[in-house]
Amino acid sequence: MEKRGKFITFEGCDGCGKSTQLRLLSEYLTENSIPHIFTREPGGGKISEAIREILLNGKNSEMTDECEALLYAAARAQHLHDRVEPALQAGKLVICDRYVDSSLAYQAYARGLGKEFVTKINAFALENYLPDVTVFIDLTPEAAFARKQGADENDRLEQAGMEFHRKVYAGYKALAQEYPTRFVCVDGNQTPQEIFNDVIELLQSRNCL
Ligand code: TYD
Repeated sequence: MEKRGKFITFEGCDGCGKSTQLRLLSEYLTENSIPHIFTREPGGGKISEAIREILLNGKNSEMTDECEALLYAAARAQHLHDRVEPALQAGKLVICDRYVDSSLAYQAYARGLGKEFVTKINAFALENYLPDVTVFIDLTPEAAFARKQGADENDRLEQAGMEFHRKVYAGYKALAQEYPTRFVCVDGNQTPQEIFNDVIELLQSRNCL
């Protein structure tokens, strides 16, 4: 039987440079013939992508915070079943763009739903599928916004309000304190290549590569 694969998640505030890191990692894993899948939340499968469409649709602004948190958790349960578990069982490395820590940072901390509620509705994920490593690209929303300035007038960072993103960031920092072994901060103020070197070093040190 294949050895169970490792589960790695990436987290960060909007605009932190996560997508660039995921692209670099994808190239690295392909070049080194490391069996893996890339997936994302919310989404990653037929039903969870349909839930993503509901969640990220700007027309659904009347959605309550509770409904939002429950939909993220529902999409997650389906995604774990459809994509994550089969790949882990096949011995593949699973790289997921956002996971349960996003619910803790965005819904529990920033929206103010509280840790207890969000932990409860995500118990299935937290108890059965806690990542081996969570890479947090540590960049403040101010720094992320300064980098993007002028690039996009309708920038989501600005739309959601800097105050909200500050709370998300504070939420992530609290998670780093709470899960010091699993949840690792990588300095997002460096060049993309320097950040990537840190990511590779971290994943190697955890026997993920
Ligand atoms: P996406 O376009 O994938 O953004 P990014 O490139 O920043 O990852 O949108 C995902 C959004 O969903 C992002 O703003 C964070 C949010 N989100 C939550 O609020 N809770 C969650 O549990 C997850 C997985 C995502």
